[in-house]
Amino acid sequence: MKIISILGARPQFIKAAIISKKIKEKGIDEIIVHTGQHYDYNMSDIFFKELGIPEPAYHLKIGSSSHGDQTGRMLMEIEKVLVKEKPDAVMVYGDTNSTLAGSLAASKLHILVAHVEAGLRSFNKKMPEEINRILTDHVSSVLFSPTDTGLANLKNEGFTHIFYSINELIPIKSENVLPICIKVGDPMFDLALEARKKTDASGIMGRWNLERKQFILVTAHRAENTDVAENLENIWNALKILASEGKKIIFPVHPRTRKVMEQTGLLSESTHSHLPLLIDPVSYSEMTVLESEARVIITDSGGVQKEGYFFDTPCVVTREQTEWVELLESGWTTLTGADKNKILNATRQYWETPPNKNNLSLFGNGDASNQIVEILKFLIKQNK
Ligand code: UD1
Ligand code: UDP
Repeated sequence: MKIISILGARPQFIKAAIISKKIKEKGIDEIIVHTGQHYDYNMSDIFFKELGIPEPAYHLKIGSSSHGDQTGRMLMEIEKVLVKEKPDAVMVYGDTNSTLAGSLAASKLHILVAHVEAGLRSFNKKMPEEINRILTDHVSSVLFSPTDTGLANLKNEGFTHIFYSINELIPIKSENVLPICIKVGDPMFDLALEARKKTDASGIMGRWNLERKQFILVTAHRAENTDVAENLENIWNALKILASEGKKIIFPVHPRTRKVMEQTGLLSESTHSHLPLLIDPVSYSEMTVLESEARVIITDSGGVQKEGYFFDTPCVVTREQTEWVELLESGWTTLTGADKNKILNATRQYWETPPNKNNLSLFGNGDASNQIVEILKFLIKQNK
C-alpha cells in the first residue's frame, strides 16, 4: 500500500509529522512530496529535523509566486510524480495552494484523495484559504473533519455520507459510498499532547528573558493583514501601546510580514527596547513553549488559535472571521479584526481575567492521527 503526502507550508509539516509516524507504524509506504512553497530553513527544514519527518522523496522547489503561477506549476509537477508513482491515495493537509494543487492533480488521475482538516469554513471567499479548502473538499474522496462544525458544513454543501465516528464507518462496505466525510478529531491536538509531555521551557524563555505568564505572544501573516498596509499598521500600533503599558511582547515574524514591515518602515522602529521584540520564526517545540507560557496570544494564524486553547492561553484573533468557531463559543478566542481598539480591549481583558476552561475536548481525544491512517487503510482495501 502506497500513500503520497503533499506538503509545502509550515502548518502542513507540523500536521504531517504525527500522521507520518502512524503511517509507518501501520506498515504503509509513504512518499513525501515537498512542493517548496515554504523554503527558508526556519519555515521548512527545521520541522523535518525536529519532528523526525521522513525526507521528501521529491522536492519540487516551486517557491514563492502569484497564486495562479505557484498553484499551476505545482499542479504540473505533482501530476508527473503521481503518474510515475501510481499511489493508492494522496493525502493533502489544510488549505494552502499546495493542498489545492495536490488534490486537483490526484483527483483528475482518479486517485483517492484524503483531505485532513476538511469542512472548515470562514465563509469569506476573499481569503485564498477559503477557496482552497472548498475546492479541495469537493474533489476529495475521504474528508477528515476535526470538528462537528466541519461535518455540518459539509452536509450543508450536499455531502451525504457523513460519519460521526470510525465505529459507524468500519462495518460498511465503502466502495459505493465515496466521498465519505468523517469526524476524527484534530491531529494537531495529538501532537500538542506529545509536545506538552516533552516540554523543556528553559531554553527559549532564558534566551529572551521571558517570565511565565508575564508576556504576550504575537504572530501575523495572513493576506488580509499583510496585503493591507493599514491593517498591519493598526496591529503594530496596538502592540506598541500594550508594550508601553509594560507588557512584554514577543513576535516571531513570518517572512511575508517581515518583508512588508521592511517596506513600510515598521521594522526600523522595532529596535527601541520598549517595543515588541521581533524574532525570527521559531521551531515547533519553541513555539509550543511560548504558547503555553504566554499570558495572552494575539494571532491571525489558524493553528496558533487552536494551540492557544490546547495550552490554556487565550487568543485575540486579528481576523474578521474564524473557521474555529468552537473556540469563539468557548470564550477562548475573541475576534477583533485589525481594529486597534478592539485588539487593546480584548488583550487587556484576557490579561486581567483568563477565561475558565471546561474540560470538554473540542478536538477529539488525541487519536485523530491513528484514526485517519486506520480509515484510509480500510478504504484503500475496500476500493482496490
Ligand atoms: C501560506 C498559506 C496560508 C498559511 C501560511 C502558513 C496559501 C495561499 N497561503 O501563506 O494559508 O497560513 O502559508 O504559514 O497557500 N516567504 C519567504 N520564505 C518562505 C516562505 C515564504 O520569504 O520560506 C515569503 C515570500 O515573500 C512569499 C511570502 O512569504 O511571497 C508568502 O508566502 P506564501 O507561501 O505564498 O504564503 P504564506 O503567506 O506563507
Ligand atoms: N509555528 C512555529 N513557529 C513559529 C510560528 C508558528 O512552529 O514561529 C507553528 C505553530 O505552532 C503552528 C503552525 O506553525 O503549529 C501554524 O502555522 P502558521 O501560523 O504559519 O499557519 P496557519 O495555521 O495559519 O495556516
